[in-house]
Amino acid sequence: MFHSVASHAASAEGPSLAARLASRFQVGTCVGGVLPGSLDPAERSLLTRHFNVLTPENCMKPGPIHPTLEGFDFTAGDALVRFAAEHRMAVVGHCLCWHQQSPAWMFEAGVGREAALEQLRAHIHGVVGHYRGRIQGWDVVNEAVADEGEDLRDTPAGRAIGPAYIERAFEFARDADPGAELYYNDYNIERPAKRERTLRLLKRLLDNGTRVDGVGIQGHWLLDQVPFDDIRAAIDAYAALGLKVMITELDLDVVDRPDCGADIALQRAYAPNEDVYRDGLPEPIAQRQAAQYARLFQLFGERVGAVTRVSFWGLHDGKSWLNSWPGKRTNHPLLFDRACRAKLAFDAVLAGPEGAP
Ligand code: XIL
Repeated sequence: MFHSVASHAASAEGPSLAARLASRFQVGTCVGGVLPGSLDPAERSLLTRHFNVLTPENCMKPGPIHPTLEGFDFTAGDALVRFAAEHRMAVVGHCLCWHQQSPAWMFEAGVGREAALEQLRAHIHGVVGHYRGRIQGWDVVNEAVADEGEDLRDTPAGRAIGPAYIERAFEFARDADPGAELYYNDYNIERPAKRERTLRLLKRLLDNGTRVDGVGIQGHWLLDQVPFDDIRAAIDAYAALGLKVMITELDLDVVDRPDCGADIALQRAYAPNEDVYRDGLPEPIAQRQAAQYARLFQLFGERVGAVTRVSFWGLHDGKSWLNSWPGKRTNHPLLFDRACRAKLAFDAVLAGPEGAP
C-alpha cells in the first residue's frame, strides 16, 4: 500500500490555480456533468475554486445532444451552462462535428451529399443557436486530420460531403452565433508530420476566407514522453497563422499505453498485474509527474499571448477517462487525487518553475 504523502487538502482552501494563472491564460477542466448526483460537495468546491472555464466531457457531443433526426437533448448541457454562469465560468462547446460519438443517421451511407449537408447545417444551427451568446467558443471540428498518409481522416462526414464539410461546419457555426469563437481541435498535432498536415488544413481554411479563431492541441501526453520541443514548435507554428492556441484536454498518463494518440475506438485488456498503481501513486512517480507538469506550464507561460487557455481533461484522478481508455486500469493523470486532494503536481504548477521538485 502506498501512502498518499504526495497529496494534501489544498483543494478547498489555499490558492486558486485559475486565479494564480489568470494573467497568463484561462485554466479549465472538462466536467462529466453538474446534474444532481454528478458532483459531490468536495468536487463542486474543487471545480469552482480552481478553474474558470468548463468543457462538457460528453453531453454536447453530436450523439448525446442530437440522438435522433427530430430531437435534441439539451438537459445536461443546459445545466452545465447555468452552473457555469452562476459561478462566473466560461464554457467551451465540445464538439460540433466528429467521427465518433455521433449519431449514425447524420452521415449514413447513401444519404446523399445535399441531405448530409443539410443535416450538418441543422445540427450546428440547432446546437449553436440554442446556446447563442452563452458559449465562449466551439470545437467546431474535432479530429479531422489523419494520423498517417492522406492529410484528412476518412470520416462519415467526409465520405458524405467531401473535404469541404470542414469549411461548411465552420460557416454554419459562425452564422449560428457570430459572437462565439471557432476552434479546430485534435490530438498529436504537435508531432511534426501531423502538425504539417494540420497546418495545411488550417492554411486552406484561412486562405479561402473561412473564419477560424483558434486551434486546440488536446494534450493527452504520457509521463516521461512529453514532447516538449514539438509542443513549443507547434504553438509557434499555429500562432504564426494568427490563431489562438489552446491546450484543451491535458492529462499525463502514468501507466504505459500503446502509441494510440487519443483514438477512443481502441480497447485493450490490461491484466491485473499491469494495473500497477491500483493501490496509489508511488511518490517518485508523483514527483516526476509534478516536474513534467511544471515544465509544461513553464513552456505555456513563455508563450503568453499565443496560449490563451489550458484545460485539463478531468477534475481529479478518479474522474479521468484514462481509468477506462484504452482499457481498464487505475490511473493518476491529473493535479488532484481521488479524494480531491492536491497532488505534488498541483504544488509544482502553482509554484512555477522555481518551485518544481
Ligand atoms: C472522451 C471522454 O472523456 C469519455 O468519457 C468518452 O467515453 C469518450 O470520449 N478526445 C476528445 C474527447 O476530443 O471528447 C474524448 O473524451 C477524449 C479524446
